[in-house]
Amino acid sequence: MNSLATAPAKTGRAIKPGRLPGNPALALWSTPIGKKVVMAVTGGILVLFVIVHMIGNLKMFAGAETIDAYARFLREVAQPELGYSGLLWIVRIILLVSVVLHIVAAAQLNRMNRLARPVGYEVKKNIATSYAAVLMGWGGVLLAIFIVFHILHFTLGAVGFKPGQYEDLQVYHNMIIAFHVWWIFAFYMVSMVALCFHLDHGIWSMLHTLGWNTRKNRRTLRALSRLIAVVVFLGFISAPIAVMAGWLH
Ligand code: HEM
Repeated sequence: MNSLATAPAKTGRAIKPGRLPGNPALALWSTPIGKKVVMAVTGGILVLFVIVHMIGNLKMFAGAETIDAYARFLREVAQPELGYSGLLWIVRIILLVSVVLHIVAAAQLNRMNRLARPVGYEVKKNIATSYAAVLMGWGGVLLAIFIVFHILHFTLGAVGFKPGQYEDLQVYHNMIIAFHVWWIFAFYMVSMVALCFHLDHGIWSMLHTLGWNTRKNRRTLRALSRLIAVVVFLGFISAPIAVMAGWLH
């Protein structure tokens, strides 16, 4: 097993107990298994977010009133206690911290694995696991680029719209304009394919790291990961396709 996401990461060097940081959280973070746990927990938070976001996007099919009201609700919820957008900002910060930790842990695990790889030997790799590791790595890079573009696009209206086209809190209007532009539509489709592969392998890997898979439930959990990935994929692509096809206008 040599997969970034499923194999126990190898440092090649044993960490001497005396050299571990005194703080238990930092001590855990300095080990490969600690980084895998961080990836699993932050990945879990991100999976929950994409499921909720995908369900929210389906409100496009209920019309402009419904999805625009939902966008306002996300800002007004927990008012006056947390103020306008207060809860949204808390969620944004949790997501940002999760994405950063997820990427840093992945990069460091990848580096540890590369350093530990024996040099000069012909290493027999399991084709399926190395394929998954490459797919997770490059797919993850594409998703990171997608997230930056996506926030500049739909949250800020700073890219992908002609001057005056983007309207704050008019989600329906913005989506209709956005997905009539072929390269934006294509970029979102390709990114959602990457998301689908990432979730398929990532959810399974998360369940594995957290120790939830047993010999008995292994096939069920593998199928469940695939099912969630495909449902999220279909949920996300449905509105852009409906716009492009002219079913939503
Ligand atoms: C076809 C796929 C997607 C579509 C059509 C879409 C659409 C949107 C729209 C319209 C908004 C603005 C909502 C608002 O202003 O209330 C938004 C916000 C956002 N989306 Fe997506 N989204 C998609 C996929 C994703 C994915 C896969 C992720 C994460 C991996 C994601 C992460 C976000 C984030 C972080 C925000 C910003 C929320 C904020 O801070 O205001 N989106 N999305």
